[in-house]
Amino acid sequence: MPLKPSTSHAKEKEAIALGEGLFWRRHGSMDFACASCHAADGQRIRLQPLVNAYNKEDITKTMTNWPTYRVSHNLVRNNEHRMWDCNWQMRLPDIEYGSDGAIALIAFLTKQAENGKLNIPSMKR
Ligand code: HEC
Repeated sequence: MPLKPSTSHAKEKEAIALGEGLFWRRHGSMDFACASCHAADGQRIRLQPLVNAYNKEDITKTMTNWPTYRVSHNLVRNNEHRMWDCNWQMRLPDIEYGSDGAIALIAFLTKQAENGKLNIPSMKR
């Protein structure tokens, strides 16, 4: 199945725009934005390559692989957990599952990966 995020409703468009705004917003004690780590090609932390949300191939490969079995957690995780984990990495307060913020970020990232074919079950680090 291809990812086909609907944008016919005004609230759906609003969520995508809010997600992109949050993605670029620097905040917290470390002054990080998602974009600090995920808006350029070739970035990495230690040995982990970082996805570029504006590189179509890169973000498509990422978003079509969730939910995933995370070997390091020994659990299946969904994309909301990834939002929580990256918020934690930015030293921000916990982002609630199902919150407007988490949904907006995922809506934006899914839009970036539009038409990518779902590739699950999958496995990540
Ligand atoms: C300080 C750097 C940093 C910031 C800031 C950051 N992340 Fe991440 N992100 C990472 C790391 C490290 C990984 C894990 C890479 C791995 O293990 O392969 C990751 C992984 C991800 C993934 C999954 C990639 C995959 O292969 O499936 C997504 C999606 C993501 N981040 C989104 C976000 C969003 C949205 C934000 C802002 C709320 C954010 N990140 C902020 C470092 C960061």
